[in-house]
Amino acid sequence: MTNQNKSKTEKRIFLSSPHMSDEMYERNFIREAFESNWIAPLGANVDGFENELCEYTGSKYAVALVSGTAAIHLGLKYLGIDKDDIVFCSSLTFAASANPILYQGAIPIFIDCDYETWNMSPEALEKAFKKYPNAKAVVTVNLYGQSADYDRIKKITKAYNVPILEDAAESLGATYKGKQTGTLGNIGVFSFNGNKIITTSGGGMLVSDSDVITKKVKFWSTQSREDYPYYQHEEVGFNYRMSNVVAGIGRGQLRILDERITKKKYIYEHYKRAFQDIEEIEMMPIADYGRPNYWLSCIILKAGSLVKMQKIIKLLAYNNIEARHIWKPMHMQPIFKMNDFITMNDFNTSCSEDIFSRGLCLPSDTKMTDEELERVEGIVKGILQKKTT
Ligand SMILES: Cc1ncc(COP(=O)(O)O)c(C=O)c1O
Repeated sequence: MTNQNKSKTEKRIFLSSPHMSDEMYERNFIREAFESNWIAPLGANVDGFENELCEYTGSKYAVALVSGTAAIHLGLKYLGIDKDDIVFCSSLTFAASANPILYQGAIPIFIDCDYETWNMSPEALEKAFKKYPNAKAVVTVNLYGQSADYDRIKKITKAYNVPILEDAAESLGATYKGKQTGTLGNIGVFSFNGNKIITTSGGGMLVSDSDVITKKVKFWSTQSREDYPYYQHEEVGFNYRMSNVVAGIGRGQLRILDERITKKKYIYEHYKRAFQDIEEIEMMPIADYGRPNYWLSCIILKAGSLVKMQKIIKLLAYNNIEARHIWKPMHMQPIFKMNDFITMNDFNTSCSEDIFSRGLCLPSDTKMTDEELERVEGIVKGILQKKTT
């Protein structure tokens, strides 16, 4: 059967696709925006979404923006990141964690992860500070919905008096020692991109416990308009603010965030149970210091290789199932080939390169039925039994 034929006969299973509430909360908020003609730019949904996100996460202040990337950009700008500044950034992440460092003309230095959390290795970070004691900020990432180890990371950043921008794009609703992710650094960032645990189709939020920060970011995100009776600009501005219609989707989605986390956890546990007898497969580890939101369920193969993972992804695609490689580390990306990378140990082996070459993100879509989970499980088991090497 050709790939095309398969896709006609079997329903596609997605990695993580938008999932609106059964109650249609999102539509009601959008309808209100239409009925009150608050289509653009701001309005009750934007204020409501910011306040409700603060309530959920325990953050004091929030600014709704067009994307998580925009939030990282303005967050770095607020931290004073400028031309030729050094910024440490987790290497095992999506490019949006690092690109805004370039927007500011600064220099990202990539930090390896560890096997226990797949997040920034405190040991590697410590090494990085010894090599670059003048670094200006650290961009941490909570990969695939699991928090980095903030107590250990903050001990180091405090010693060097350097702020943390916490990229919590993938981890809304996850906790670290009982505290919500996004609130663990000096500035936190969430994404509501289409594949995230909740989505606004596209959008982001910057959170902070300082209204000085959020006020300034709000100002920049609406073209830096000074308080004059006419348009007056004294600083460069951005068109980064979220619209009232989009924020309505976010308000609706926030109401079912806990439900989504429960389903994501169910998916992770299904795979864990299903693969427990397959020696070759290890699940992404769950660190005992927190509760992930289980955004994506990932596996790593003991005897995996990039070629083998490619074959598995292709075979899943043939069965109309979307799977992905683990994010390719930033220090391996051609665009960052000139940027330094600090590994976790003295042997210069890289944890993030290893996880990338042997790892896979499995479908973790909250609309998946048990039958669909079993379909994925059966195909993965079948592939491994057939020995794809
Ligand atoms: C780790 C990480 N950081 C940042 C972003 C950027 O978010 P956005 O797509 O909303 O710009 C994403 C997702 O897209 C992400 O996965």
